[in-house]
Amino acid sequence: MRWPISSLNAIDLALDIVARFASERMPRSFFDGWMTVAMEEAKHFGLLSRRLQSLGSRYGALPAHDGLWQAVEETAHDLSARLAVVPLILEARGLDVTPSMIDKLTAVGDDETAKILEIIYRDEKKHVAIGAKWFRFLCARQNVNAAERFGVLVRQSFRGEVKAPFNDRARAEAGLTPTFYRSLSPRSR
Ligand SMILES: [Fe+2]
Repeated sequence: MRWPISSLNAIDLALDIVARFASERMPRSFFDGWMTVAMEEAKHFGLLSRRLQSLGSRYGALPAHDGLWQAVEETAHDLSARLAVVPLILEARGLDVTPSMIDKLTAVGDDETAKILEIIYRDEKKHVAIGAKWFRFLCARQNVNAAERFGVLVRQSFRGEVKAPFNDRARAEAGLTPTFYRSLSPRSR
């Protein structure tokens, strides 16, 4: 099973937003929000790491992809691009794939891991919501259409594929409506 985001990288990522963009003219609550995200990512890492140990393995025993960190480097120059690619593409992808992972774990009787993924799913929805809120804030400040700007930034700064099917309901609950992502997916055009 391939987790869309490396849990350990996710902590660094939230903290990277706070540190790298510290000189941006943003409200204090923007930085507080990402500190909360970092704390929750650390909680997820602890939960997954302990669960792996109780199964006789450990975090890092299997290779994890570093797509998240590549995205961090490619969007280091621009906060809007960072928010578009990291919370609104990569973390939103977690919302698409996690429910079926939970179903599979439940089907094989691993309720304990399923419960951990339910916690992560709930928190990740909040992370996407924080990304969407501040992305819209930046677009409103620059007087640009948020969905259009999103499309431009993703095409510029994201090398991967925007994959359907989407969990439209969870995405909408996080403030990410289909006008943002539908036209970016080759299969849903
Ligand atoms: Fe997250």
